[in-house]
Amino acid sequence: MDSIVIRGGNRLVGSVRISGAKNAALPLLAASLLAEGQHRFRNVPELADVATMGRLLRSMGCEVGRADGALQVYVPPPGVLEPIAPYELVKTMRASVLALGPLVARYGKARVSLPGGCAIGARPIDQHIKGLEKLGAEISLEHGYVQARARRLRGARITFDMVTVTGTENLLMAATLAEGTTILENAAREPEVVDLANALRGMGAKIEGAGTDRIVVEGVDALRPADHAVIPDRIEAGTFLVAAAVTQGDVRVENCNADHMKAVVQKLREIGVSIEETDDGLHVRGPERLLPARIETQPYPGFPTDMQAQLMTALAIAEGTSTITENVFENRFMHVLELSRMGADISVNGRTAVVKGVKSLSGAPVMATDLRASASLVLAGLCARGETTVQRVYHLDRGYQAIETKLRALGADIRRVTSNG
Ligand code: EPZ
Repeated sequence: MDSIVIRGGNRLVGSVRISGAKNAALPLLAASLLAEGQHRFRNVPELADVATMGRLLRSMGCEVGRADGALQVYVPPPGVLEPIAPYELVKTMRASVLALGPLVARYGKARVSLPGGCAIGARPIDQHIKGLEKLGAEISLEHGYVQARARRLRGARITFDMVTVTGTENLLMAATLAEGTTILENAAREPEVVDLANALRGMGAKIEGAGTDRIVVEGVDALRPADHAVIPDRIEAGTFLVAAAVTQGDVRVENCNADHMKAVVQKLREIGVSIEETDDGLHVRGPERLLPARIETQPYPGFPTDMQAQLMTALAIAEGTSTITENVFENRFMHVLELSRMGADISVNGRTAVVKGVKSLSGAPVMATDLRASASLVLAGLCARGETTVQRVYHLDRGYQAIETKLRALGADIRRVTSNG
């Protein structure tokens, strides 16, 4: 398993180009199952999770490969495609459940493994299943699989019990081929949902209201292949903003969409970081010392849970006491114990962490536990005294394309150590 070794203390200076969004690319690739033929997706990041989704599509009989700067997916005719998502693949990536909606809608049947638990919480898919049943699918859960069948889905009004991003995406995709009108209430408003809706409309779907909490879909009989460019990754961009913030850096974050990052930019400005919008991104400069803050994670457009761990690293060296409340997932503080080993002073009480800023962190060997936790540990290594080794960086590779290369280009003393273990 690879590790990343960082010697802290270097200021980050220069410019970094943000890759396409993982959490937009994954539903977009699943959406290709809705239409036979050759789909083209541009600006798709080279990530472990994208490769997993590619393997899943291939296992169903699709052809997946990169050509002339795009990720191309050829979806075979219905009789050829095998509508199954096996446990071996789903257990490595929960987002595989995004195949469920498209398979039921287009092929009338699906056999998708229930995702296992996950480090950050139980993350059930009851909302996905309830919504598909509302659309007329017959669902049974057996041997760890969701079995779904439907002659043709029928439009319905669906109100989510809580805001769910992939739940919204799964049902949005299913509704595009249902007979009649579907209304999704309490829908997720994330930019990745909007990007998916834009791609689906390019395929011929009739969708209004994406980006609001009420999405209306008029079902159509068939869709045509996608030809779509993935939006930039707002979480990767936010992670680089924090990297500059904790190293008194001066960085231009390019090819990112500031409109998707308002809550993060506002919070960073609040703790003393200077951020200006440029014509294709953001110019960020970190202060001598960061200020404390109160953070509450919320569904979009609130402060994103996927930036919680990264901000905790910044607040760990701020001048004063901060609080961070994680309202979205029930167990997303795994990075606390590892940051504490680097000298952070953090106490957790239920969903709230109290972070007492210290002057500086000290480098140490630490263990990544989930994707964003591992990002927070890399950020801590950048500003810690001495050397930090982040182990199990396969977590990091799921959501960041060549992060150590991008950080080294900004002046970080960072390298990947490949172990044969
Ligand atoms: C998406 O996960 C993202 N993943 C996550 O990013 C992100 O943290 C999350 O949304 C919240 O923004 C992708 O888009 C591939 P949810 P998702 O359904 O859709 C509960 C990353 O680091 N819930 O919005 O799985 C659930 O347990 C990843 O890139 C149910 O109870 O999250 C959670 O508490 C991590 N039943 C809350 O809702 C359901 O049927 C929000 O989860 C669905 C969700």
